[in-house]
Amino acid sequence: MNRYDGVKVLLTGAASGIGRATAIRLAAEGAAIYAVDVSEKGLAETAAAVTGPGTITTRTADVTDEPAVIAAVADAADTLGGIDALINVAGVHKTTPIETLTVDDLNRLFSVNLVGTALFCRESLKHLPDGSGVIVNTASLSATQGNPFMTAYAASKGAVLAFSLSLAAELTGRRIRVVPISPGAVDTPLIRAADMFPEGLDLGYFSKIRSYFGAADPEQIAAAIAFAASSDAGYFTGADLRVDGGAHT
Ligand SMILES: NC(=O)c1ccc[n+]([C@@H]2O[C@H](COP(=O)([O-])OP(=O)(O)OC[C@H]3O[C@@H](n4cnc5c(N)ncnc54)[C@H](O)[C@@H]3O)[C@@H](O)[C@H]2O)c1
Repeated sequence: MNRYDGVKVLLTGAASGIGRATAIRLAAEGAAIYAVDVSEKGLAETAAAVTGPGTITTRTADVTDEPAVIAAVADAADTLGGIDALINVAGVHKTTPIETLTVDDLNRLFSVNLVGTALFCRESLKHLPDGSGVIVNTASLSATQGNPFMTAYAASKGAVLAFSLSLAAELTGRRIRVVPISPGAVDTPLIRAADMFPEGLDLGYFSKIRSYFGAADPEQIAAAIAFAASSDAGYFTGADLRVDGGAHT
């Protein structure tokens, strides 16, 4: 039996990395997925990579665009016939020493990582069923562990974690679970970006915050997300699910 047979999943950030791996994993377990991302090309690649028995419908939208989010969530509920699980994966990163941190950097990081997540939660809660609805929000190990040159990104992920813990408490009356998940380093385009390690940084710092296991594969994070959003995690809410290869120790 597939864990996700008949389960309707709204997933953001599905065009790449962890989001793509999550779409592939959940569809393999039977989910009907409505996948949202700003990258039309990436979404098409994800849709091509998804095999059954589940299904995938894609929609291009920017998670920071409030009217676009409202329309996407309403269409997801229409298309799927409801929403059982919301999984927020869309996110952006930027490493920079504090001396060169800009207001634009701060606004962009908070806007995509926090505001986008919050908007999808607010809109999806109009559809998530009391008693079984679930939200998984992607935070980061950097929310709870100091990571050099990541002050703004870490703060935005700390905000996602804090938002999720309070939302979990707020939704206990509806018996809707909220699980923030905190990956350590994951081998995706996000950390392969040209500006991930700005010139002149002492890369020795980064070796100290890495797991002895090395970076995770996106599939390993997708497996944890698949657990968190499933009934197997029915008693799991309001606590940070760290998937970091022990890098926090
Ligand atoms: N890779 C890591 O080491 C790592 C570690 C901890 C947490 N995370 C988090 O995991 C999530 C996924 O990251 P990833 O590593 O798969 O990165 P990725 O860059 O491969 O994927 C991120 C996806 O988010 C989408 N996206 C970005 N801005 C968007 C917007 N405004 N609207 C809609 N979609 C948008 C991108 O198009 C992309 O498809 C992010 O929230 C990231 O912060 C990643």
